[in-house]
Amino acid sequence: MSRKLFIAGNWKMNTTLQSGLDLANGLKETIGSIDEIELAFFPPAVYLKSICDAVAGSNIGVGAQNMYFEDSGAFTGEISGAMVKDTGCKYVLLGHSERRHVFGETDEMINRKVLKALSDGLHVVLAVGELLEEREAGKTMEVNERQIRIGLEGVDAAAMSNVTIAYEPVWAIGTGKTASPEQAQETHAKIRQLLEKLYNADVAAATRIQYGGSMKPSNAAELLGQPDVDGGLIGGASLKVEDFTALVKAGL
Ligand code: 13P
Repeated sequence: MSRKLFIAGNWKMNTTLQSGLDLANGLKETIGSIDEIELAFFPPAVYLKSICDAVAGSNIGVGAQNMYFEDSGAFTGEISGAMVKDTGCKYVLLGHSERRHVFGETDEMINRKVLKALSDGLHVVLAVGELLEEREAGKTMEVNERQIRIGLEGVDAAAMSNVTIAYEPVWAIGTGKTASPEQAQETHAKIRQLLEKLYNADVAAATRIQYGGSMKPSNAAELLGQPDVDGGLIGGASLKVEDFTALVKAGL
């Protein structure tokens, strides 16, 4: 089965409203009509509506970097899946390593968010990945398996068409240290085997697994050329029109 590449920019806590609009408008010009690759931006929540409006009419989708698992109520500072949808978003990123390691989100919390996002009609990008000490201790797959198993608990095979996995080794995020194409391929293939075990061969073959962690124009083609690497989740290199354009074009 051939999977459509899916490349997304995670802007994290960067940009102003104006620089975010400039970035979105610039990329709409350069890559907005590409339809061979699924494209998305994850801007800061306060800019979601403006960025959705800016890319309207292009092939670029927009998503939130996080959401909460309740519908509404006394949850100061949080946003719901319905609010995310209301701004025009199609996607939500859940379980990013910074949510896990800076904000203390547990696998169980992330699972509740995944279930809620899917029931709210959002496409979930579920990010997983091991710390450097976990890799060095030979626990790479143990950690990724736990994050995926618990993260997807209660998600049935049909709902998996609205899930993308992003494998982001924590030691490669923002460090300039990219996983080698072989390291990425090895873990992606194991994640796909796990999806076959948890679901079935069709789900395993259809689910996109993005790589994230210091992906840039110079290493994108090699990473995206691996058989089980189905796209990228890009931090730093998604903040410049030239870099993200070159990176996406490396996937064509
Ligand atoms: P960098 O591309 O800056 O390493 O960030 C990766 C990432 O965390 C994307 O979600």
